[in-house]
Amino acid sequence: MNAASFPILITGAGQRVGLYCTERLLDAQQPVIISYRQERESIAHLRERGAIALQADFSDEAGILAFIDQLKGHCSGLRAIVHNASQWLAETPGEEVDVFRQLFTVHMLAPYLINLHCSDLLLQSEQADIVHVSDDVVRKGSANRPAYCASKAGLESLTLSFAARLAPRIKVNTIAPALLMFNEDDDEAYRTKALAKSALGIEPGPQAFYQSLRYVLDTPYITGTTLTLNGGRHLK
Ligand SMILES: NC(=O)c1ccc[n+]([C@@H]2O[C@H](COP(=O)([O-])OP(=O)(O)OC[C@H]3O[C@@H](n4cnc5c(N)ncnc54)[C@H](OP(=O)(O)O)[C@@H]3O)[C@@H](O)[C@H]2O)c1
Repeated sequence: MNAASFPILITGAGQRVGLYCTERLLDAQQPVIISYRQERESIAHLRERGAIALQADFSDEAGILAFIDQLKGHCSGLRAIVHNASQWLAETPGEEVDVFRQLFTVHMLAPYLINLHCSDLLLQSEQADIVHVSDDVVRKGSANRPAYCASKAGLESLTLSFAARLAPRIKVNTIAPALLMFNEDDDEAYRTKALAKSALGIEPGPQAFYQSLRYVLDTPYITGTTLTLNGGRHLK
């Protein structure tokens, strides 16, 4: 990456993995545009560091299209799009349809529409990538969160279709992490159980994701693939 490149768009970068990646890309002099829903101190900090931060809610088609319009007013090209925004929702009895719709919209409809409407921005860049952030749970399904799992599986399918459609100018790949970092309210029992699910047994942190992102962005010969980042969960 060099200072002259077009910005990388990372969605949902106000906290955790997206925030970490934005900071590291800015460290590397890579311009970044982020989307966020909630104003936080981190957003002001990223703005001070030179990131463009656009408020966006991908809960419905109108919010997604409004974001695309806003984005086009802020850049004439993009180096990459990282579809990181996500909701880790479980279905609650009586709310299944609403939860399914929310997950479908943030994990599939938003990436789908942004890819369709912003591929022209990516085509301005000599190197161009779309990165879909999925979840290792897609490999085996989820008894507790079938809607979350299905919407991430749909996102992985979009990787195959967009990779075929946009080759050879735009590479399209998935990164599928298992546990990267716990949520603050995860209790000890949950943490112990989650760590025991992988062969490596660690909480790798967002830096492991950033390494994967760099690999995907910097490697010219991969498209339509899923990079698994799961500490050997498939071995247990
Ligand atoms: N963390 C892990 O251990 C782990 C494990 C497996 C997969 N992943 C995947 O890795 C990615 C990053 O994980 P994370 O834990 O850092 O994610 P996260 O904090 O749960 O979510 C990232 C951001 O998505 C934004 N977002 C949620 N719904 C949105 C909507 N409707 N419209 C616009 N933005 C929305 C939120 O913005 P606001 O905060 O501004 O509301 C949030 O900050 C996600 O795609 C996740 O599925 C993470």
